[in-house]
Amino acid sequence: MTNASPDRALVVLGIETSCDETAAAIVSRDRDGKGTILANIVRAQLPLHAPFGGVVPEIAARAHVEVLDHAIRKALADAKLGWEEIDGIAATAGPGLIGGLIVGVVTAKAIAMARGLPFVAVNHLEAHALTPGLTHGLGFPYLLLLVSGGHTQLLIVKGVGDYERLGTTLDDALGEAFDKAAKLLGLGYPGGPEVEAMAAKGRPSIALPRPMLGRPEPHFSLAGLKTALRHAAQARSPLGEEDIADLCASFQEAVAETVSDRSKRAIEIYLEELGPRAQRALVVAGGVAANRRLRDALAGLADAEGFDLIVPPVELCTDNAAMVAWAGAERLVRGLADDLDAPARARWPLDPDAPPALGAGVKA
Ligand code: KG4
Ligand code: ZN
Repeated sequence: MTNASPDRALVVLGIETSCDETAAAIVSRDRDGKGTILANIVRAQLPLHAPFGGVVPEIAARAHVEVLDHAIRKALADAKLGWEEIDGIAATAGPGLIGGLIVGVVTAKAIAMARGLPFVAVNHLEAHALTPGLTHGLGFPYLLLLVSGGHTQLLIVKGVGDYERLGTTLDDALGEAFDKAAKLLGLGYPGGPEVEAMAAKGRPSIALPRPMLGRPEPHFSLAGLKTALRHAAQARSPLGEEDIADLCASFQEAVAETVSDRSKRAIEIYLEELGPRAQRALVVAGGVAANRRLRDALAGLADAEGFDLIVPPVELCTDNAAMVAWAGAERLVRGLADDLDAPARARWPLDPDAPPALGAGVKA
């Protein structure tokens, strides 16, 4: 795999169908490596899944089939481009819900075949990881905290296709923990924004554990915190509005402290490992990056460590296809197109060499 300097401009169509957003986007990458979003269409499926309190894979896959062609057509129209101006097709091929992934990958391959264009099978985590190159023109290396509904990882991003996973979650993802907390407190889905809104009305007065605090490896564990929250809620039952607000504030505080402790440990490892080559940049991506309390905690940490905290705009932090198109362009300029038999993969770790975290439920 080469990271050779690219020498030509590219326009790439990206497709994202790994979870509950159907998305299509067009991104250009000029010769200097600067990215521009020409169109960015995201069709959220939230109302379809909300009654079930979580994403239903079969419903998601069907909805992708119904919506994807329209999203692609709209992306071309928004960008005012015809197929002849597109240089490549990139689709998220994993990790994610396999039904949805297949819809995106098959569509992308069909277009690539019909138009004689190169196809790139994009790792969804890589797309998140490379986003600051698109949004901030950030060069390598940097430290990435990826916190979404499906993923919780600390990674060193060394280059395209070159990642070292420092930490992961042993059980629930961070966003999943917010969603479960919301559910057990009778709040709506997705839970993160609901918990944050309630937390603003309460005080972090209830003692909850800070899982993994001080552990040498920057892994996460959230199941115990969720259980402690359930016990605290049961002890106060029936819950009034004030109880729920205090429980939310206490949960959010525990999460913020844990995440900043784990990120501090990752910063130490990153600096030890890369020495003077370490760029002092901490990037936070994923839907949970929208959480104000978490951002404040990480801003404090970055400040103390002399790091820049980089948070892409929220619409590019959550699932979208612009990041997929960008990852596709970054790969294409390096000659990293895929064959048309590249599979969709429910599991696809970014760093296959990472030692398994003890007891980890494998998420990616
Ligand atoms: O990245 P994302 O949009 O989708 C994937 O999971 O890939 O992340 C969604 C997750 C949900 O679990 C949601 O509850 C969480 O991000 N989230 C938040 C906030 N906004 C969204 N969690 C905490 N605070 C928020 N303000
Ligand atoms: Zn994602």
